Amino acid sequence: MRALVPTGKTGRLTELAELPDPIPAAGQALVRVRHFSLNRPDYLYLATPGTDFRPGIDAVGTVEIPADGGPARGTPVVFHLPSGGAAAELVAVPADSLAPLPAGLSPEIAACLPLAGMVALRLLKAAGPLSGRRLLATGATGGVGQFLVQLAIAAGAQITVVAREDDAWRHLAQAGATVVHDVHALPAATFDVVLESVGGTLGSAAATRLRQGGLFLWYGQAGGQPLTLDFFQLLGGGMELTLRHFVYLGHSDDRDDLATLLDLAAAGTLQVEIGHRGPWQETSDVLESMAAGRLRGKAVLTIT
Ligand SMILES: NC(=O)c1ccc[n+]([C@@H]2O[C@H](COP(=O)([O-])OP(=O)(O)OC[C@H]3O[C@@H](n4cnc5c(N)ncnc54)[C@H](OP(=O)(O)O)[C@@H]3O)[C@@H](O)[C@H]2O)c1
Repeated sequence: MRALVPTGKTGRLTELAELPDPIPAAGQALVRVRHFSLNRPDYLYLATPGTDFRPGIDAVGTVEIPADGGPARGTPVVFHLPSGGAAAELVAVPADSLAPLPAGLSPEIAACLPLAGMVALRLLKAAGPLSGRRLLATGATGGVGQFLVQLAIAAGAQITVVAREDDAWRHLAQAGATVVHDVHALPAATFDVVLESVGGTLGSAAATRLRQGGLFLWYGQAGGQPLTLDFFQLLGGGMELTLRHFVYLGHSDDRDDLATLLDLAAAGTLQVEIGHRGPWQETSDVLESMAAGRLRGKAVLTIT
């Protein structure tokens, strides 16, 4: 079978290679992959010197050899493989990671949901009750953010997003978010929860917008600079906060959360912005576009 493998070369991080067909272990199904989407970790892992990471974390395909108790041969399925390797014609996947593709849902849309959707869903579970609560999100114009905004609003929260002054935020405003470009223009002591993923001074300024006893959910550092929190700045505002470092893995069953996301997408409650569709031979170029910030929305590659 053919699969995308790392090259170790800057600017051309992955290429097709011929590999032996995988042999599913007990509890695994063999899936013939049709589409996979790209996520930032695909780029980050491939760009790590000496890596043996094979891309493909989120994918859609058809069961070729079923596992005991898992979906039958021919069932279209969606899956999330945190360790990668789904950008391949055939993949051995734990049967309990396979969620059936709902009838009528585009497989390309479904391929965009797993990682970004699960992060958004689990962040909002960690945020606590949402109805009527005020959320502030940084770094929300990307894959996770588009789901975070839609799910928060569907749950009855009000969400404000701090975004740069380009066009990347317009779909968030259309989805019902309030968009601001300067966090300092927001009144202090306003928000119940801050969802922070940029780092640097933006993250620390966002913290000062929390109400007394608010929750600071810290889940990324997309700007490249560590978060700097000034104890005395918070003290000066007379404020205490709860800080929670959030990692999406290990919260709940992937298949259950994936099924929830697929149902929401099939019902039209969750919309997906796709910025690139193409054959998987384009993967390396798309990863470069993603890293350079030229890609808006998700990228979906098709195995041809
Ligand atoms: N904790 C976890 O378990 C977990 C899991 C997955 C992802 N994450 C994190 O979640 C975050 C979002 O992921 P994603 O897939 O949505 O990433 P993404 O599509 O690359 O989006 C990154 C976001 O960060 C913003 N950003 C980047 N650099 C910035 C800067 N210097 N100043 C201000 N904004 C900046 C981008 O804004 P522009 O569009 O304006 O560039 C965009 O809104 C990332 O930090 C990622 O590492 C965490």
